[in-house]
Amino acid sequence: MSLADTFEPLALRRVFGMFPSGVAALAALIGDRPRGISVSSFTSVSLDPPMVLVCVGHTSKTWPLLSEAERLGISILGAQQEKVCRQLAEPIADRFSGLDWHASDDGAVFLDGASAWFNCSLDQRWSAGDHDIVVLRVHDLNSDHTVMPLVFHGSRLHQLHPEPKETPGAM
Ligand SMILES: Cc1cc2nc3c(=O)[nH]c(=O)nc-3n(C[C@H](O)[C@H](O)[C@H](O)COP(=O)(O)O)c2cc1C
Repeated sequence: MSLADTFEPLALRRVFGMFPSGVAALAALIGDRPRGISVSSFTSVSLDPPMVLVCVGHTSKTWPLLSEAERLGISILGAQQEKVCRQLAEPIADRFSGLDWHASDDGAVFLDGASAWFNCSLDQRWSAGDHDIVVLRVHDLNSDHTVMPLVFHGSRLHQLHPEPKETPGAM
């Protein structure tokens, strides 16, 4: 049964969007240029061996380039990186213009100011509907626990507002 037979794509997107997620930058050096996209589909998969996944649309022009890279950087974007998130999704020639980033020796690209970073390689890949499910092996990781994450929910970017440590009336 095709999507058109069942759901309005916009309605489906709206309901999928009820599930909150973080936003990650998936990026690598292609030649000597950083290339990348924003993804909200990042999920941790396995502890041993360490693996994560992202889902990438079949229409992506950047993914075919990234999929050839030896290493892929994943940066979990911080609450202050809304501009980074938008810029890495825009149809512009240089998505990294004006952004603070660095590359590892093996070509993974990381965004400075993020809350966590993973240096990954492509492990497995399946086509699922109009996306690829991409499983990545984690080779190195780092985090800055002082940086709160950016949150994507309801087609909008949000910041977390943690509950105060002490809830009045709680035992
Ligand atoms: C908040 C946000 C989350 C996104 N998440 C995904 C995602 O999980 N998978 C995906 O393929 N594209 C996602 N995109 C779209 C990509 O960032 C990018 O715009 C798209 O791949 C088209 O660019 P390209 O042709 O250079 O790949 C997201 C965009 C935004 C703004």
